[in-house]
Amino acid sequence: MSLYVPYTFGMTASEPVNLWTSAEHARDYLVRADQISHRTEGESALLEFIPAGTHRILDLGTGDGRLLALVRSTHPDTEAVAVDFSPAMLQAARQRFAADSRVKVIEHNLDEPLPNLGKFDAVISSFAIHHVVHERKRALYAEIYDLLNTGGVFCNLEHVASVNQRLHQEFLQRIGFTVETEDPSNKLLDFETQLRWLREIGFAGVDCQWKWRELALLVGTQS
Ligand SMILES: C[S@@+](CC[C@H](N)C(=O)[O-])C[C@H]1O[C@@H](n2cnc3c(N)ncnc32)[C@H](O)[C@@H]1O
Repeated sequence: MSLYVPYTFGMTASEPVNLWTSAEHARDYLVRADQISHRTEGESALLEFIPAGTHRILDLGTGDGRLLALVRSTHPDTEAVAVDFSPAMLQAARQRFAADSRVKVIEHNLDEPLPNLGKFDAVISSFAIHHVVHERKRALYAEIYDLLNTGGVFCNLEHVASVNQRLHQEFLQRIGFTVETEDPSNKLLDFETQLRWLREIGFAGVDCQWKWRELALLVGTQS
């Protein structure tokens, strides 16, 4: 399988950078999370793909649980598992769901294979999986496929690569960053490669269901 991609950012030959276990990095994000341009459009689009009758939801790289809380607001009769590896994010998510015994917040590094968490009707993620290296992204997608019940859905609202540096710089400018200040943890990959991987793994109905510049909603179902 070729892992060649036409344009990537944040990848070096040395150890991959991931700053998200830093409390300061997590808090900087949480302060600006609501201001990220167009994100609420992507979140609204994601909500449309959560199947009626969903009982169990897994949120990968949950942060403070923002996306999971949104999905559960429209699917209240659900239980959920929220995964992250940042102590500050885990604390924020545990605080958010403290009064809800149907949400379990679990520490796990997505660089490692997912633990046995049972089966899910929906696996969701927003702006998290691009922090793992490309080979791990693909392996994680296969693990997600195996975790889904028949008819279950994977909704990945993701930060993907631009097709060239000019468009990358424009995107950064629109979200208040430059190439100097962008997160070195990002390991951006074009969305076409990720859609192809999902199809190769066996996901059905795979498509990019919403996109604004480097923000994209990738969706596929189990069977
Ligand atoms: C940009 S934040 C998004 C948080 C949340 N999903 C949201 O949409 O607000 C990225 C999240 O991915 C988590 N993350 C990054 N790399 C991770 C890894 N290797 N394992 C687990 N979580 C990771 C970070 O701790 C952080 O919570």
